[in-house]
Amino acid sequence: MIDDTAPLLVFGGPYSNLQATVAMRAQAEQLDIPTSNVICTGDVVAYAAAPEETAQLIRDWGIRVVAGNCEEQLAESAKDCGCGFEIGSVCDRLSRGWYPYALSHTSTSTRAWMASLPGRLDVRYGGAAICVLHGGATQNNRFLFASDRARLAAEFAAAARDNTCDIVLAGHAGIPFIAPLQNGCWVNAGVIGMPANDGTPDGWFALIDQTGGELRVGLHRLAYDHVAAAAAMRRAGHANGYARTMVTGIWPSHDVLPDAEREATGQPLPAILNQIRHVVAA
Ligand SMILES: [Fe+2]
Repeated sequence: MIDDTAPLLVFGGPYSNLQATVAMRAQAEQLDIPTSNVICTGDVVAYAAAPEETAQLIRDWGIRVVAGNCEEQLAESAKDCGCGFEIGSVCDRLSRGWYPYALSHTSTSTRAWMASLPGRLDVRYGGAAICVLHGGATQNNRFLFASDRARLAAEFAAAARDNTCDIVLAGHAGIPFIAPLQNGCWVNAGVIGMPANDGTPDGWFALIDQTGGELRVGLHRLAYDHVAAAAAMRRAGHANGYARTMVTGIWPSHDVLPDAEREATGQPLPAILNQIRHVVAA
């Protein structure tokens, strides 16, 4: 059961980054957020050095997790990450390096756990119906960014068609944002295991709290020992193009980005991004 008296903490993309995941758990404990109120939007395992250790940490923590495309693919021991990268793109080429490493460094038990994860979570918090997804409502590996309001509105409508929905909480795309829409709000909680292409090494997470019939959504930085995370990748012989990103905060490829997000490359996001209030209907 979600505890309405405590904040809701949501994050995505641990991405095999053990140092970031340890920091996220420490932050949740420092904020005194119960495990029942912590949600991960998926992609527990991906680019970084510690697939099994990161998955174990998430499992031991006992939080709610939605299956990302990486969990879906690893659960089936599939040949690729299913990220939705264009064939032949830089991201596609890089995934041929990190995905086999992820597959060969996850246990049978962890992959069985991944297979058990839901593709969608519907929870109530502070009187609001919240739908938690990985990518989009119509496609788990859909890249959705703040600048594409038309597609966000369509995906929100699809999410609300399956179940009542005031807020969608999603991940996958890697850049956090809050997009108020006509009938609700789409929140990308960001990811902790890789920077947001804003020229800083920090990850991102969302905190939601409620008071007096209003929900407040905020996006926050997660500083962690990114140097150790990058060093662990290099030590494992798994630098794979993303170890440098962990330090520079710039993605190795901008193939998936719309023009607006591509032009914002290297511009630090505000420390607390777009804090908004969402009035809950009585
Ligand atoms: Fe994903």
